[in-house]
Amino acid sequence: MAPIVVGFVGSAGTVGKSTLPYLLEQDKAGKIKLVILHREGSDLSKIPQEVEKRVVQLDENGSEQNKAAVEGLEVLLSTIGGAGIKSQIYLVDALEGSKTLKSFIHSDFGTNWTAKELEAPGLSIIKVKEEVVKRAEEKKVPLTHIRTGAFDVYFFNYNLAGTDIKKNVVQVFRDSLKYGIPITSLSFLGYATTQLILKPAELPNQILQVYDFDPTGQEIIDVLTKLNGKAPEITHYTEEEYQKELLTPGTGAIVAAIKAKWGSNNFGPSEKPKIDGWKGQSFEELTKSYL
Ligand SMILES: NC(=O)c1ccc[n+]([C@@H]2O[C@H](COP(=O)([O-])OP(=O)(O)OC[C@H]3O[C@@H](n4cnc5c(N)ncnc54)[C@H](OP(=O)(O)O)[C@@H]3O)[C@@H](O)[C@H]2O)c1
Repeated sequence: MAPIVVGFVGSAGTVGKSTLPYLLEQDKAGKIKLVILHREGSDLSKIPQEVEKRVVQLDENGSEQNKAAVEGLEVLLSTIGGAGIKSQIYLVDALEGSKTLKSFIHSDFGTNWTAKELEAPGLSIIKVKEEVVKRAEEKKVPLTHIRTGAFDVYFFNYNLAGTDIKKNVVQVFRDSLKYGIPITSLSFLGYATTQLILKPAELPNQILQVYDFDPTGQEIIDVLTKLNGKAPEITHYTEEEYQKELLTPGTGAIVAAIKAKWGSNNFGPSEKPKIDGWKGQSFEELTKSYL
């Protein structure tokens, strides 16, 4: 069978770097033909010489170049981050009318947000992703949405949900002790995304939940008690803090909204696609690796 032609933009970012090794492996095995899309000047030092590279320019002046860059792609994976997320509308424009494209996996990698949640002023930065989705709907470009939990590195290193494993502190909000928080290890995300790409016919118009852990607050306490040799200190996040943080656009508001989802068991659809062959670690092992 001919290899699946897979375009990949954003390979140097946090998600990109975790996904690249798995895509390169499948490229080497002949299952996919990987095409790296990048902007002029991107760091390509991790991309083997023999892998095809094409330049994109995601602005008003790049349409011809972008059209050429997406030529023949069956799947386009974008892990573009930050300010570049909105510029994916130019990828959508380039993909319009493609005769080969099965699906564009846009840079989502967030959680399931409801329209009501997105009314919060602080979450306006997430709405940018919706603009990309809207453009794709207008241009009839098939999309795949990969939804994740909180990335492991954010949960453990940046104390995303108020848990500080090194200081042995767990923060509680509402009923977070009895409900789970989805957490996605970046290596699992890279592996799972690659596995999903190997079945391109199953990708279009799908919302796929990709996370490998779902510990309750109590389970986190139990793991930390075992690893740190004593029960963690419990702190409490208040409704006042939550309401205040939700007002200002930025990471603080996103984190506040995640805490509310956790405490109210409101993460939305959670059924996950089957990912074959993943040899992951336990939540305790993962936590230990960050201590
Ligand atoms: N669930 C979570 O906990 C969580 C946490 C963080 C992020 N995310 C999501 O994950 C996704 C990826 O985020 P990330 O943190 O991996 O991003 P990142 O590290 O900022 O990735 C940057 C990558 O995007 C490329 N890029 C940026 N602007 C571009 C443009 N205009 N044209 C072409 N390429 C461009 C960069 O290319 P160059 O090499 O040229 O700079 C680089 O490869 C985002 O959707 C983000 O919201 C989720």
